Amino acid sequence: MLSFEEESMDALATPATATGTVASPSASTASPPTATFKRVNAADKRIINAKTDVNQLVPFKYKWAWEKYLATCANHWMPQEVNMTRDIALWKSPNGLTEDERRIVKRNLGFFVTADSLAANNIVLGTYRHITAPECRQFLLRQAFEEAIHTHAYQYIVESLGLDESEIFNAYNEVPSIRNKDAFLIPYIEAIMDPNFQTGTAQNDQTLLKSLIVFACLMEGLFFYVGFTQILALGRQNKMTGAAEQYQYILRDESMHCNFGIDLINQLKLENPDLWTAAFKDEIKALFIQAVELEYQYAEDTMPRGVLGMNASMFKGYLRYIANRRATQIGLDALFPNEDNPFPWMSEMIDLKKERNFFETRVIEYQSGGALSWD
Ligand SMILES: [Fe+2]
Ligand SMILES: [Fe+2]
Repeated sequence: MLSFEEESMDALATPATATGTVASPSASTASPPTATFKRVNAADKRIINAKTDVNQLVPFKYKWAWEKYLATCANHWMPQEVNMTRDIALWKSPNGLTEDERRIVKRNLGFFVTADSLAANNIVLGTYRHITAPECRQFLLRQAFEEAIHTHAYQYIVESLGLDESEIFNAYNEVPSIRNKDAFLIPYIEAIMDPNFQTGTAQNDQTLLKSLIVFACLMEGLFFYVGFTQILALGRQNKMTGAAEQYQYILRDESMHCNFGIDLINQLKLENPDLWTAAFKDEIKALFIQAVELEYQYAEDTMPRGVLGMNASMFKGYLRYIANRRATQIGLDALFPNEDNPFPWMSEMIDLKKERNFFETRVIEYQSGGALSWD
């Protein structure tokens, strides 16, 4: 049996410093059991570069993050609960879907089967260690698991339909409209995943802030929306309803990730107003415009002709509408004034509660801890 002092020497139990690395003995505010150990004061917590102990979830300061964590847990679902029988029959029937509809499904999966792995790696290997608010870390842990569920869901659809796995999983290397989106994102993910990257200077704090904006507003908040709309449009026409239901749950999760990311960005800005310079804002606006263009190219590639009552040019308006919303959510002016939403039904999809199942497949309710059997 170890004494308290001996246990505390264990590196795994040593509280982290602001940057998430193990505290040195001189880091007086973060290293029990030294005489200078001090209890966490909620007011001292910071989104980045905090001096408080990241291992202590409470006392809460960022209640919004904790509440979002609870809300995401209440939305739990697993891909294999969704019945795919009708999708399989439709996909295998020679006249079940048009060639344009099949293209949409394959391109969609081609983007998403690797996109959520990028998202998970960005959180686990990048964002997480730079965020020093334990409430936000708690949300990121849940988010990372949800990204694993999403990759699982896309893989499950690929497997159910008997698609060529190699073709779908390599689409991000082989299909230019997909590769270009990922090539845009990857430098912002890699910048914060670099083991030598640390926050604590204005330049590096801006690098992190930029990465958070690219990830929440442009990847989860924009690059997912052509794909989500297309599959949900299929579902609304009673086609691929199992896949559409999976996407419906993923859309709900992603909408929560995006909202959390925006709250995180705004709190970080509030605590570090010096980062939000005119030059930085110009850089972010240029990224928004580039992302809208890339997603529009993806829309054109996936819809060479009108399909399902939609066409690529409708998406130009939709993407501009979404980009305006993301920009204003983080305190920028709208980039494309006077854009309306051509797909108002998408807002309804985002707000859908689990009890109301649009596509009428079945969701298993989760067992509570007390109901679990261990034999
Ligand atoms: Fe995801
Ligand atoms: Fe996500």
